[in-house]
Amino acid sequence: MWMFKQDSFVTALEIGTSKVVAIIAEVNESEAINIVGFGEAKSHGVLKGEIIDSKVAYEDIRKAIREAEDRADREVHQVYLGVTGQHITSNNYTGSHAIASSDRFISEEDVDDVMSNARRFNLNHGQHMIHVIRQQFKVDGRTVHQSPIGMAGSDLAVVLHAVQGYKEPLQRPVQLLRKMKLEAENLVFNGLASALSVLSPAQKAEGALVIDLGAGTTEYAACSKGVVCHSGVLAVGGDHVTEDLSIGLECPFTRAEDLKIKFGSAVVSESARGQVRELVNEVGLTDRRVNVESLRRIMSERLKEIFAIIAAELDRCDMTDMVHSVVLCGGGSSTPEICTLASKVLELPVQIGAGVNLHGPSSIIERPEYATALGLLKFGSFDLARQRESAASRIPLKDRIKSLLRIES
Ligand SMILES: Nc1ncnc2c1ncn2[C@@H]1O[C@H](COP(=O)(O)OP(=O)(O)OP(=O)(O)O)[C@@H](O)[C@H]1O
Ligand SMILES: [Mg+2]
Repeated sequence: MWMFKQDSFVTALEIGTSKVVAIIAEVNESEAINIVGFGEAKSHGVLKGEIIDSKVAYEDIRKAIREAEDRADREVHQVYLGVTGQHITSNNYTGSHAIASSDRFISEEDVDDVMSNARRFNLNHGQHMIHVIRQQFKVDGRTVHQSPIGMAGSDLAVVLHAVQGYKEPLQRPVQLLRKMKLEAENLVFNGLASALSVLSPAQKAEGALVIDLGAGTTEYAACSKGVVCHSGVLAVGGDHVTEDLSIGLECPFTRAEDLKIKFGSAVVSESARGQVRELVNEVGLTDRRVNVESLRRIMSERLKEIFAIIAAELDRCDMTDMVHSVVLCGGGSSTPEICTLASKVLELPVQIGAGVNLHGPSSIIERPEYATALGLLKFGSFDLARQRESAASRIPLKDRIKSLLRIES
């Protein structure tokens, strides 16, 4: 029989497009998260958030995990695995249920019934449900944010936010981990993980949007009334900004990436107009000048497009009024003036995110590119708390993984 974990450690693993990050943390009884190990490797086998070269990805993952294990001085057996990619989609579903009891008081069974009705939506062939997040109940059409148990009514409805993805790309990293004798304790959509790490409870309650600007993907998640109510992923990120620069400035990708980091900005300021910079100490280049105005204009256009797609998506889902601020994270949020641009497009106050309520080196917690991995630790700590409380979690781990991905072993 599977036992409760003897210790209280959780490990987060993000297999990103540009980097693989593993973080080990100790979670105490009051759910305080203390980082004890960190490992990072440059990622070579991932494109747009999905593993495309397993052999290469295997080495990168092993390197990041080993480094974290060495620093924490403990072995890792299970990880909370971040997942992303264009195959991941989300929807909101409503389920309803007629209250049968003669007194019309809503019971726990009514809540169970309405939940299972709402969960009965059709997934496409080959899809797997990653998250089902309860939004709000409706009693006779009236929205109720607390538990409806004990309330009187004749009709109970519940709205769920569901995140689903295709099994094949989800299984790829899980199978790779198995080869290195690691189990994926749970799969977590990166957008949700990032929201968990950078939003304060007050922001979640008031309504906030998190945008994680990665290398190959951009995830977003909107929270309202304390829960994630909308989320998504675009297969566009910092790599596309660099590709645009590579084409526009007619230089190789690696040089475009260098120029982006050195001279980049999300806006074209007055001072950048007509600016051409001479590059010193650059050997082997035929052209040692860079047109800063063109560089920033190219970057600005692509980044503007990313924010505009997200704004249109919020509008399409009638979410605009629910979101009152924006938090940016992911490596792309280090772009100078990114908040100015995002604020202009999204018409909301924007800030850069850092890990909230986490303990450890500020070089990890305060870096926006680690937001996903830090959020995975938070997800893990909630899971740990649930496992401690719930007898239902005494299902053998291998069975939980099987049901998670329906993998037959
Ligand atoms: N100072 C900077 N200015 C502009 N872009 C930056 C800066 N620093 C990092 N980036 C960009 O951030 C991206 C990497 O972000 P991040 O580390 O969050 O990606 P990832 O998690 O590996 O990828 P993904 O989440 O898409 O799989 C790269 O495109 C990189 O060029
Ligand atoms: Mg990422």
